[in-house]
Amino acid sequence: MGKSGSGKTSMRAIIFKSQLAADTRRLGATIDVESSQIKFLGGLRLDLWDCGGQDSFMDSHLTAQSSTVFRSVHSLIYIFDAESPELLTSDTVYFLKCLRALRDQNPSSSSSAAPAANGSPAAPTSAPGEDGGPMVFVLLHKMDLVPVDLQASKLAEFENEVTKKAREGGYKGGMQFYGTSIWNETLYKAWSIVISHLMPSLASLRTHLNSFLSLSSASEIVLFERTTFLVISSVTNEDESHDTEWDERRFERISTMVKAFKLGCSKIRSPFSSLTVSTPHYTAVLDALTPETYILVVAKGAIQPAALELNIRLGRPHFA
Ligand code: GTP
Repeated sequence: MGKSGSGKTSMRAIIFKSQLAADTRRLGATIDVESSQIKFLGGLRLDLWDCGGQDSFMDSHLTAQSSTVFRSVHSLIYIFDAESPELLTSDTVYFLKCLRALRDQNPSSSSSAAPAANGSPAAPTSAPGEDGGPMVFVLLHKMDLVPVDLQASKLAEFENEVTKKAREGGYKGGMQFYGTSIWNETLYKAWSIVISHLMPSLASLRTHLNSFLSLSSASEIVLFERTTFLVISSVTNEDESHDTEWDERRFERISTMVKAFKLGCSKIRSPFSSLTVSTPHYTAVLDALTPETYILVVAKGAIQPAALELNIRLGRPHFA
């Protein structure tokens, strides 16, 4: 959800429909609600609702359609336009109304706890969903329009202000804030976190990836969802992470690059299947693991890519 023009449909088009960021300029306004069902990791079905943000639609989501839109919600992803002149006024008012509707339609969560005293400082934000209530992800979007040196402070100020208002309004559930833009990998970072919260067995998956990591003597393993290329999970060899300068955004960068490369492949009708990078310092193989996932195995040194490919092949039956 979020105000009209904040970028909801653009995000959906890029992540779930593999469109290019530049093509989102042609998108029209969403009428009412556009729901899509996305098959995810085989057994999971993601019901994604893109709620039109024009005032009349927002009012209807909050009144006549409130029970349809807000009941049994797993996660609310609310998008704010970072450059909106009404960011902390009318835009926030709509957000607070959505939190209230979420609380009213899901009364069992502790988000219905008593309101904080007016003017009290923002309470610490607990992990979303901890209380059994819906998770709330707040994306301060179009951050590319904010000067780079102001982005971190803008997000921190916004988070403080909105959290404070939400607590004053009586919302006790967890909220997580991220700055995003369709023009860089921040979009993938935020959505990878959203998606990993939907995964029912992430802990067990990590255990299996850790076994794979040690059995194959790899430095790092990353698991991507096959269509969206969102990061599902990753494990890193802790002994090696200390003596290597890791780029903190490496996973999202890989998602963005591979998605663009896949698009390029499909344009010349040559379907993407796997990718190998070999340098004197490291070797990396990206290959299908299951029908729904891709695995990236990175190993230190110039070892034979065929060795990593063989390990992936041997690991497939285990993850199937
Ligand atoms: P409604 O359907 O009316 O609710 O709007 P929406 O929130 O779905 O907005 P939409 O995705 O249609 O985006 C509106 C405009 O914002 C488009 O021209 C996008 O190209 C642009 N836009 C989306 N994301 C970004 C971003 O991260 N940065 C910049 N600069 N523009 C963006």
